[in-house]
Amino acid sequence: MSNILVTGAGGQLGSEIKKLAYKFTDYNFIYTNSSELDITNHIAVDSFLIFNKITIVINCAAYTAVDKAEKTKY
Ligand SMILES: NC(=O)c1ccc[n+]([C@@H]2O[C@H](COP(=O)([O-])OP(=O)(O)OC[C@H]3O[C@@H](n4cnc5c(N)ncnc54)[C@H](OP(=O)(O)O)[C@@H]3O)[C@@H](O)[C@H]2O)c1
Repeated sequence: MSNILVTGAGGQLGSEIKKLAYKFTDYNFIYTNSSELDITNHIAVDSFLIFNKITIVINCAAYTAVDKAEKTKY
């Protein structure tokens, strides 16, 4: 059975994927929110993928604060 990682699972898109996942019984869904897995931390992401034998990633994580994104410089 393939393991699918759904990142940003606490968000709007992630929550919808959660609702639909039961239809896909050939897959094992693993959900993470930002406190469990920060997608900007590539070391943490690499480790998570390897440790959990993830073969598919559905990335629902995103910086969606549009106004802040316009103003904040990194
Ligand atoms: N909603 C829609 O109808 C829709 C339609 C088409 C496309 N999309 C796209 O889908 C993506 C998600 O949209 P959304 O509406 O679901 O947004 P959302 O409700 O704001 O959810 C985004 C999620 O990403 C998480 N996140 C932010 N930074 C992260 C990080 N560094 N590591 C891990 N998780 C992180 C947030 O967690 P925290 O809150 O804990 O930071 C939040 O749970 C966006 O790219 C959007 O453009 C959405």
